[in-house]
Amino acid sequence: MNLIFLGPPGAGKGTVAARVSAEYHIPHISTGDLFRSAIKDGTELGLKVKSITESGDLVPDELTIALVRERLEEDDTDDGFIIDGFPRTIPQAEAYGTFVNVTKVLNFTLPDAEIVARLSGRRVCRNCGRTYHVVTMKTKKEGICDACGGELYTRKDDTVDSIKNRLEVYAKQTLPLVDYYEKLKLLVDVDSAPAPEAVFKAVTDVLGRRA
Ligand code: AP5
Ligand code: MG
Repeated sequence: MNLIFLGPPGAGKGTVAARVSAEYHIPHISTGDLFRSAIKDGTELGLKVKSITESGDLVPDELTIALVRERLEEDDTDDGFIIDGFPRTIPQAEAYGTFVNVTKVLNFTLPDAEIVARLSGRRVCRNCGRTYHVVTMKTKKEGICDACGGELYTRKDDTVDSIKNRLEVYAKQTLPLVDYYEKLKLLVDVDSAPAPEAVFKAVTDVLGRRA
């Protein structure tokens, strides 16, 4: 099962992908997470993409496609995987189609006002990467991850300016993928507005099989 999680920033792709990954025993590959980890490690790639990701612009297609190709060569992807945040442009989708047989594209939808509320309240664990929200998904102890006790931080692209840019970039460069995958009869819309448990249930209904 090779799944694409498509949708605007903050729609909850990463949150639901973590649940689906655990339920179906397939890895969750997020290009945003791969870039953030390269930045944290100070690699050559990290240095190249730092300012681009923080502003909310897209990393050039060649770099992103090469990163995905390399990640998919790892053994844990043999029985399927979820890719979240990729493809994000038509050239990325065309390239991806040459090396992966996509099973389904789940398109998570959410109105812009709700996106802004979700992103501006997001907090992420510096240690394990788990995602919270100051209003809708609070930790038991403020600023501390429930799962591992790590410190929470705010992503550098969750500022007002970057969120605004990410929404514009999404509308211009990523939204055309909805039509692209609809034409290929791979697209299924998922309403992201309900609570996380309900969104997860909607996804398992679409995927059908539980591990
Ligand atoms: P990336 O990390 O992919 O960011 P994004 O697409 O902007 O998506 P987010 O991670 O912000 O949102 P999400 O949908 O995962 O939401 P989440 O589950 O966290 O990309 C970052 C950057 O990397 C890009 O801007 C670009 O520069 C670069 N990049 C990445 N991929 C690229 C590519 N393919 N090409 C080029 N460049 C690329 O949830 C958000 C918040 O809502 C959280 O606080 C969460 O707790 C809360 N929440 C989630 N679900 C619910 C719910 N159902 N109800 C209430 N609250 C909820
Ligand atoms: Mg994410």
